[in-house]
Amino acid sequence: MIRVIVTEHYQELSQKAAQLLAAQLQKKPDSVIGFATGSTPIGMYKELINSYNRQEISFDKMSTFNLDEYVGLTKDHPQSYYHFMQEQLFSHINVRLENIQFPPGIFTDADRACQSYEDAMKAAGGVDLQILGIGVNGHIGFNEPDQQFTLYTHIVELAQKTIESNARFFGSEDEVPRRAITMGIKSIMDARSILLLASDRNKAEAVQQIFSGKVEPQIPATVLQLHPDVTLVVDREAASLLNEEFQTGGVCVW
Ligand code: F6R
Repeated sequence: MIRVIVTEHYQELSQKAAQLLAAQLQKKPDSVIGFATGSTPIGMYKELINSYNRQEISFDKMSTFNLDEYVGLTKDHPQSYYHFMQEQLFSHINVRLENIQFPPGIFTDADRACQSYEDAMKAAGGVDLQILGIGVNGHIGFNEPDQQFTLYTHIVELAQKTIESNARFFGSEDEVPRRAITMGIKSIMDARSILLLASDRNKAEAVQQIFSGKVEPQIPATVLQLHPDVTLVVDREAASLLNEEFQTGGVCVW
């Protein structure tokens, strides 16, 4: 089931998403939360930091698993996703360091690294709430359009386009890692609930495709149609290609 919440703008989207995450932690303080990087959830992370500073919320018992990481970058590399999460959220709240889990950017045995991450998620009891962004091509995590779904945590070669577009964060194109480690489609679908955020007109096609009625690995996010508990929080721009019933704002169920 997909629940759609359409907001007026990005700020309202960020507030709504933060409220949903806070409600999950209220219901179950030791929730396992799957986090995403990228620009979309930054506003939600700011809202969560503000709530924490107002002493409305505690992250003391929360455990976390992130979706993905660049291969070859250490945790303290300024472009690593681990560093991003520290900067944008973790270092500002009372999450315990030992409860933060990340796919490793540095490893000697890739298969073992991927399997260990899957084992760690299982040992933690599975992810209660997974935060997702969406790529303009429908990717989720680093699961790019492909001939088939890759189910579990795996290593991906970055597409040339991704390398070029990410070069702006690095000194030059040569410095952009060529590979990433990402949760697979089943690792994501195993989460008990999913919260997908999308903002801006350039995400409208990708958001529309989630409701295509077809599940296809060329548009990885279409798999979400098979999940029992997905909430999409989208601003008006990202919702602009959805049917009229979704445009009214508020909550719609698909
Ligand atoms: C991030 C991730 C990606 C992003 C997606 C959208 O951990 O896995 O799938 O969620 O690329 O990125 P933004 O939010 O920057 O548009």
